[in-house]
Amino acid sequence: MSNPGNDDAAAFEAYQASFTEAHGYLNFASFGPPSRAVRERVTHLLELAADGGDASEALHGEDLRVREAFARLSGFPPEDVGLTGSTSLGLFQVAFGLAGGSVLVNAGEFPANTYPWLRTSAAGRARVDLVGGPGTLMTPDVVARGLTDDTVAVSVSAVDFRTGYRADLAGIRDVMGPDRLLVVDGIQGFGVADVDWTLADVLVAGAQKWIRAGWGVAALAMSPRAVERFDPLLTGWTGVTDSRRYDGEEHPPLPGAQRFSISNLSPYATGAFAEALGLIGSVGVPAIEGIVATHAQALVEQLDSAGVEVLSPRERADSAGIVVAGIPGRAAEAHAALADAGIIATLHGEGRIRFSVHATTRSEVFGEAAKVLAPFA
Ligand SMILES: Cc1ncc(COP(=O)(O)O)c(C=O)c1O
Repeated sequence: MSNPGNDDAAAFEAYQASFTEAHGYLNFASFGPPSRAVRERVTHLLELAADGGDASEALHGEDLRVREAFARLSGFPPEDVGLTGSTSLGLFQVAFGLAGGSVLVNAGEFPANTYPWLRTSAAGRARVDLVGGPGTLMTPDVVARGLTDDTVAVSVSAVDFRTGYRADLAGIRDVMGPDRLLVVDGIQGFGVADVDWTLADVLVAGAQKWIRAGWGVAALAMSPRAVERFDPLLTGWTGVTDSRRYDGEEHPPLPGAQRFSISNLSPYATGAFAEALGLIGSVGVPAIEGIVATHAQALVEQLDSAGVEVLSPRERADSAGIVVAGIPGRAAEAHAALADAGIIATLHGEGRIRFSVHATTRSEVFGEAAKVLAPFA
């Protein structure tokens, strides 16, 4: 008889064994080193292409594997999951798909979230209402205060790249009312944060960070009402029906989120994405989130003991894998000292160092990082 405990442990062991990043790597919010499984899949697909056989269908068949795997992890049905080239590109497509009304966005967001709305606004489509600035937490209260009669959508990151704050998507949904659309950039949380993604009308998540699949592809999931409300304006020949009937006619858009396809994506990117999502699914996001939360808390405790200011939220409900240390005025020096000690993190401005931990991070490194930072505290 199989023992679920043992099965879980075996799955987790296989998951851990697939990753080989350096001990001091604490930079998953920048990019997530891919697994051995991902590398092997990409190599296999490259070899398939190199053989020069009739591999086109097999190569582009990776798209379907991604859409199914992303659907399983996000809760969106596969027909509501489309693919695009990056988080930014997906947000541009969504932003240009909206005509009229205004969209509420935190000015302190990662700029991938502000430029699409600024550009669509300049083009005379939807307007943008920027609120706050660097460090503003997009709480339901901040959203509620920013809404106007004109607001047709709110666009927010599920986890903020700078503060590490995990947005309260259910709370935001509540204050938005039933008719406004919620656009969510999931790149800083998808795969490690156990979020109800179906609260979003639009979810965009690039593969290169916490999902650990590398660059060149993002999932773009859309509820049926979002498919209705966002025009497929920045879309292309693969987003329409009978795309291989080259008859010189404009074809109607595909029925679901796939209408946002512009062209074929690189099968090496989609193959990597499918494999990485499969690996996450093999252990489950709740298990990954549990370990990430324990690691984040352990790092916070080490920073506390070293007298280093912690600027990211401490509560599990408000955070994911990002831990931010405040080193006023000496962050660049401290960041260089970390690099000398083999610890990779991101320097943000004059005073902040952003660490990010994953389920494969080794906990010994937290004390090492705190020890390096202690003299700068
Ligand atoms: C919140 C957020 N969105 C988007 C991006 C960029 O995504 P992409 O390179 O897929 O456009 C980043 C970081 O690079 C980010 O932190």
